[in-house]
Amino acid sequence: MERARVEEVVGDFVNLKRRGTNLIGLCPFHHEKTPSFNVSPTKNIYKCFGCGKAGGAINFVMEHEGYDYPEAIRYLAGKYSIQLEETQADAETIQAERERETIYKVLEFAWQYYKSQLHDTEEGQVAGLNYFIERGFRTKTIESFGLGYAPDKADGLIHEAKKAGFTLDILQRAGLITQHGGDFFRHRVMFPIFNISGKVIAFAGRQMVNSKRGPKYINSPETEIYVKRKVLYGLSHAKKAIRDNDNCFLVEGYTDVISLHQAGIENVVASSGTALTPDQIRLIRRYAGRITVLYDSDPAGIKAAMRGLDLILEENLDVRLALLPEGEDPDSFVKKSGLAGFQDYIREHGKDFILFKTQLLLKEAAGDPMRKTTLVKDLVETLAHIPEAIKRSAFITECAHLMKIDEHILVRETNKAYDEFLRQKRQGIPRDVDSAEREIQHQVFNQETKQTDARIQALPNLADQFQERDIIRILLSYGDKPIPDSNLTPLSRYILVSLLDIIDEFQNETYKKIMREYQDLLEQGKPPGPEYFTHHANKEIQNLAIELLTSPNEYARWEEHDMPLQIQLHPDINYKKDAFDAILRLKLKILMGHIENNIAVINQLQAEGNENEMIIHMRMHADLLQLREQITSQFKNVVLRV
Ligand code: CTP
Ligand code: MN
Repeated sequence: MERARVEEVVGDFVNLKRRGTNLIGLCPFHHEKTPSFNVSPTKNIYKCFGCGKAGGAINFVMEHEGYDYPEAIRYLAGKYSIQLEETQADAETIQAERERETIYKVLEFAWQYYKSQLHDTEEGQVAGLNYFIERGFRTKTIESFGLGYAPDKADGLIHEAKKAGFTLDILQRAGLITQHGGDFFRHRVMFPIFNISGKVIAFAGRQMVNSKRGPKYINSPETEIYVKRKVLYGLSHAKKAIRDNDNCFLVEGYTDVISLHQAGIENVVASSGTALTPDQIRLIRRYAGRITVLYDSDPAGIKAAMRGLDLILEENLDVRLALLPEGEDPDSFVKKSGLAGFQDYIREHGKDFILFKTQLLLKEAAGDPMRKTTLVKDLVETLAHIPEAIKRSAFITECAHLMKIDEHILVRETNKAYDEFLRQKRQGIPRDVDSAEREIQHQVFNQETKQTDARIQALPNLADQFQERDIIRILLSYGDKPIPDSNLTPLSRYILVSLLDIIDEFQNETYKKIMREYQDLLEQGKPPGPEYFTHHANKEIQNLAIELLTSPNEYARWEEHDMPLQIQLHPDINYKKDAFDAILRLKLKILMGHIENNIAVINQLQAEGNENEMIIHMRMHADLLQLREQITSQFKNVVLRV
């Protein structure tokens, strides 16, 4: 954790720019156009003020790469060339990891096998290599995409793999054998499928003659390391070009990717016959802000393209579409027209996706008013998925024009659909934020949808725990700082001793937990610094700590609660006074609660005519008021509204 600099780890995935002492960039966890993703090298944490995601270097790779904890540690160890010593206690993890490694190894073995079958055997050369050559693939292309050949044998690969020491279990888990125990791929040309970093994770095998018997392509089954919805064919070859061009061509087939590459268009990936998934779109979004979909112009191709559209829009990517001439796919078309011809065609025929959809639907619905109604509904759904208001409204205008319908109607319907869309999104707000933060998020959403009454409900709750929250903020930020000339040092000792008898009165359970844990650590003689809680294993505590240590709005909130800051010293210098005031405020707040309760009791007793009890509570009331006087007199320069 000391060696893994958060700015370096994040910097491998996010383009960070310096702003003051911090770094800032576009958040990789939600869509945004203006950066709200902050990285603090001094605190060694990141925090997105847009979506609330926060943590240290380990959290980042876990979240971003989908690693579990040990995988994240291994990744970081690799990055920083730190030798890891895996302990005996972790035997199970070691075993699982070793097996995973073996699955990669057997896939690598199979890949070498298929390649050598293609190049070094007569069957491979005659049936496989010739097939590729006839399709126009050059030697360099065949090599760079690692193409191979699976011979017409029942267990060619299994036999070799066993000889090399691989078990049937591993072959099975790699998706290389059938249910009947034979080679999964037989008598096919082979296309290895790579993950982002270029390791083989699966294969596709194609028949060499288009026959009615059996499918044209067979793909590896899903395995522990091959999850189809997260894979884009060709991405490891294309990622640099996608970034350089800020555009990614999306095609349907393996051979389309390979042919375009060979022709010099390298920013191309394929969804491999399945509908585009959100995971795949996010993969592209890491590298580019635009997708150009190149699908066949047959109805199936158009339909496949349409299915992905709403998803792509939602990720705030620009989507363009170019339909190829009748009967062509990118592979055949680029061969026919050459690079320049292909590029000209795309330039001329590339259309904005939404307008394309409008025109298409319009054509379908020609002369049928009933159809037109469904069409509007369909279109409204699509428009509602555009996250940016300006963009959304521009498209509405244009679509209304195209469809010859009243723009107001389209605006109204789209707004309705958008509200619904937001509502659904809101239900998916990440759960790893504390409740106060969640309230604020709700507020923002509610403002967006102009439901201000909900906002009013959200406020008192936050106000209720504000004093507690402020104590925790000071404790975590400055708890390890010394108090000169005091036996109650460091500051945390002073705070905890002062609050010893009221920790139980804290309303917020997380704050309570933090206080208790802090106390334990102090007692063990291990006073924690801020980094202890910002890297805490409990995600709720960690997020809260980061929120408190990074919030840019801490001062603004004072005004919200009628507690103007009295002293303008920088809080880093002012921590002792801050702590003192915060403790008083909390005590005062708790006291006020008791006073209110007591008044209610007095009123109740009066109504019941219970004079004796009432007197006791009246005395209590006087005592409480005196206590309040004591406390308020300690706020030397604070004017209190009572
Ligand atoms: N596909 C598949 N299984 C099939 C047919 C197709 O998985 N039985 C997937 C493959 O990823 C294929 C893509 O769908 O690349 C597009 O299919 P198609 O257009 O039929 O094939 P092409 O990619 O054009 O392949 P080729 O040029 O070799 O005919
Ligand atoms: Mn094709």
